[in-house]
Amino acid sequence: MASFKSPPLLIFRYRSTVISLEKQFKILAFAGSLRKGSFNKALIRAALELAPANVSIEVFDLEGIPLFNNDSVIDPPAKVVEFKEKIRNADALLIATPEYNYSISGVLKNAIDWASRPKEGNPLEDKPVAIMSASTGRLGGARAQYHLRQSFVFLNIHAINRPEVMLSNAAENVDAAGKLTNEQTRTLIRQLLEALVTWTNRLKCNRQFVD
Ligand code: FNR
Repeated sequence: MASFKSPPLLIFRYRSTVISLEKQFKILAFAGSLRKGSFNKALIRAALELAPANVSIEVFDLEGIPLFNNDSVIDPPAKVVEFKEKIRNADALLIATPEYNYSISGVLKNAIDWASRPKEGNPLEDKPVAIMSASTGRLGGARAQYHLRQSFVFLNIHAINRPEVMLSNAAENVDAAGKLTNEQTRTLIRQLLEALVTWTNRLKCNRQFVD
């Protein structure tokens, strides 16, 4: 009985690998900062440069998302509708979060709150996510990342554990043109993107096998 069940799993894994090589993998990226010279936006720009060939990254600017109002979740503002649609259509998300007062920014929390409601049809449900952070402090936004992960538990969002991309002393590691100059962080971002593709394919494979 056991030997009869194993072959379909192997065939499926083989098939899923083929799909992952052929298909363009779509990531939606956003930074939790509206600042023009944002160091977190610099991380996203670095990700655009470092993405593997089969990965396309679309950047979404959170500017213009109004403050969350639970009275409006059934008929949300146009910018929120657009945001939710782009999340739905993406294979995975890439979030760059600032650290504000040991937590994430209000801008990012507000956007996540909008995207998560109403609960029915919430596009964040079951979504694979990679997190990065940049701060002018020594810990590179580590505390914000762990707060974000706490929200992800409730939302059933699947965040990658490794590598951790936390850019500390950001002002010294992003040049005047807004380019991330820290080579170690650039390497980590490349690894994070590769890990996000692998992680997403593992989840897809598992989902289809279980369903
Ligand atoms: C900060 N900053 C900050 N940095 C940090 O490492 N830990 C923190 O708790 C805070 N708290 C904080 C609160 C507020 C209100 C501001 C405005 C700033 C500094 C923060 O890392 C710095 O401003 C970054 O440049 C913010 O990210 P962006 O906008 O460059 O992406």
